[in-house]
Amino acid sequence: MSSDSDIDKVAEELQSKVLVGYSDVVVDHAQNPRNLGSLPNADGFASITGSCGDNMEIWLNVKDGIISEVGFWTDGCGSSIVAGSMATELAKGKSLAVASRISQQDILGALGGLPEESEHCALLASNAVKEAIKNYLALKNEPWKKAYRRQT
Ligand code: FES
Repeated sequence: MSSDSDIDKVAEELQSKVLVGYSDVVVDHAQNPRNLGSLPNADGFASITGSCGDNMEIWLNVKDGIISEVGFWTDGCGSSIVAGSMATELAKGKSLAVASRISQQDILGALGGLPEESEHCALLASNAVKEAIKNYLALKNEPWKKAYRRQT
């Protein structure tokens, strides 16, 4: 009979085989995605769809012009998870101006690259962060709109 540790070992081996050819940073973010999940009643929120049809959502809280908390969710591929994880790490603690300039290339660079066919997943993450910042700025001007936003 297999023990839980045997099953964990097999799962780890399978995952490491799937992740062959990816950078250590990608493997790390795939195994331990950062900032995964929603922030209730967030200051800014975006839900966008990429060219592949997959979605990413970003929540952020802002304190004194700095992104103090950020969360993400995606229904996309594994690369979208690592891209969302890295995008949120890059955005956290940054000013809105700096975070709004986080590009697809910044995310790819920080990850040590993704296969060419997955590079658009980093664009999805970059665009989601930008849209959440736009949403935050729009709500600052019209705060009443937050009451009508879909609850997260
Ligand atoms: Fe759609 Fe990666 S986000 S393929």
